[in-house]
Amino acid sequence: MKQHIFVATDGSETAGRAVDLAAELAAKFGTPLTIGHVLRFGRSSEEMARMADVEHIVRHVSKTSNTDFQIMTGTTGDLFADTRPSGDVVRIVTLIGEEILRRSADRAKELGVETVTTGSAQGDPADAILDMAKEAGADMIVLGHRGLGRWREMLLGSVAHKVNQHADCTVVTVR
Ligand SMILES: Nc1ncnc2c1ncn2[C@@H]1O[C@H](COP(=O)(O)OP(=O)(O)OP(=O)(O)O)[C@@H](O)[C@H]1O
Ligand SMILES: [Mg+2]
Repeated sequence: MKQHIFVATDGSETAGRAVDLAAELAAKFGTPLTIGHVLRFGRSSEEMARMADVEHIVRHVSKTSNTDFQIMTGTTGDLFADTRPSGDVVRIVTLIGEEILRRSADRAKELGVETVTTGSAQGDPADAILDMAKEAGADMIVLGHRGLGRWREMLLGSVAHKVNQHADCTVVTVR
C-alpha cells in the first residue's frame, strides 16, 4: 500500500469527502496522513461566500481569538475582495485556514488515523499542493474534483486538473 497520504482541502464539501476517503485509507492501512491548505488572499471572495460553513467558522474564529472582526461589514465576501489584503484580512484568512485544518485533522483522528500532520502554504494552489505533498514524502495525493470555485461547467476544477497533470505520484480525485 502507500507510505504516506496527502490530502488537500479548501474547506469545501467535496474536499471534505476527500479528507474522509484519505483518512479511511490511512486508518485502514496504518499510513501517516498530511492535510494541506493553501491560503488564498485576494481573489477568494466568491469562493468564501460559497463555503457553506464559513459563517460558522468565522464566528468560531472570532470568538476564540482577539481578532477585530469589525472589519466585516456587509457580506463575508467583502472581507476577502481586496487584492492587496490588509493585515487584518491576512490574519483572518490565516485563522480560517487554521480552523479548516483543525476540523479536518479532528475528522481524520475520529476516523482512526493515528499520525495526522497539518500544513498551510501560500501561492498558486496547485504548485503549493505539489510542493507540500513532496515535502511530506507523500506517494498519494487525494483531492476533491471540485472546490469553492465557480467554473462548474468544467468537469474538473483547475487546481485538481493541474495537480493531476503535474504530480509524479498517484492522484485520487474524489466525487
Ligand atoms: N486553496 C486550496 N487549498 C487546498 N486544497 C485546495 C485548494 N483549492 C483547491 N483545492 C483542492 O482541489 C480540489 C478541487 O478544487 P478546484 O479548485 O480544482 O475546483 P473549483 O474550486 O471547483 O474550480 P476553480 O478553482 O478552477 O474555479 C478541492 O476539493 C481541494 O481538494
Ligand atoms: Mg478552486
